[in-house]
Amino acid sequence: MDTQTTEAPTTNAMPRIGDPAPAFTAETTQGEINFPDDYAGKWVILFSHPADFTPVCTSEFMTFSAMEKEFNAYNTELVGLSVDGLYSHIAWLRTIKEKMVFKDMKDIEVTFPLIEDISMNVATKYGMIMPGEDTTKAVRAVFVIDPAGIIRTIIYYPLSLGRNFDELLRVVKALQTADAFEVATPADWRPGDKVIVPPPGSCGVAKDRMDGSQEGVECVDWFFCTKEISEEQVESAIRAS
Ligand code: BEZ
Repeated sequence: MDTQTTEAPTTNAMPRIGDPAPAFTAETTQGEINFPDDYAGKWVILFSHPADFTPVCTSEFMTFSAMEKEFNAYNTELVGLSVDGLYSHIAWLRTIKEKMVFKDMKDIEVTFPLIEDISMNVATKYGMIMPGEDTTKAVRAVFVIDPAGIIRTIIYYPLSLGRNFDELLRVVKALQTADAFEVATPADWRPGDKVIVPPPGSCGVAKDRMDGSQEGVECVDWFFCTKEISEEQVESAIRAS
């Protein structure tokens, strides 16, 4: 009889939504950063990619970089990481600027910091190494961290799957809208769509039983109430001045 057992791969402790972002100091392509303290008062997307000089990662960096100003307009900074070294990062980003063309993007200069993490210290702290996928590369992790340094959203993708950056911008806008208006956002929400008025007792907001009598609130049932917030109201509340 075959008595061999399959051992579960070693897993790292992973931070969770609602936890303070684990602190670290690291060297980046833009100098040393002290995370998350250097970003106090700002939203941050901390994301990892598997390796420099790989095609999916290249397409992602070009896309993220082309959208950076849009993220900045929502008080959001980008910080990348892979377990490569600084010289590899610099050479790859130079190649992207000098040679790479993807969709209608070319001559893309990546100006947000890219963390070097040869020791895997940061990747391990953030649970970015998933041994079942790859023991020597970070998966495509995304941590959305709020101005108080709290992790608000975590998304993981495998090595083969490039991220959807419109979705990441939607996540930022939805989190900021939820905070600004004390609401929740339904499936596929975009600014201008109706928002959810949280049911009684949830989110620490609505204390009374919902019956639709509150001005502007429509209830299908006590647990499913919505209201209109126009795109202009959303934008003026969340767009950085
Ligand atoms: C890529 O970015 O193309 C890639 C990186 C690691 C494994 C597979 C694909």
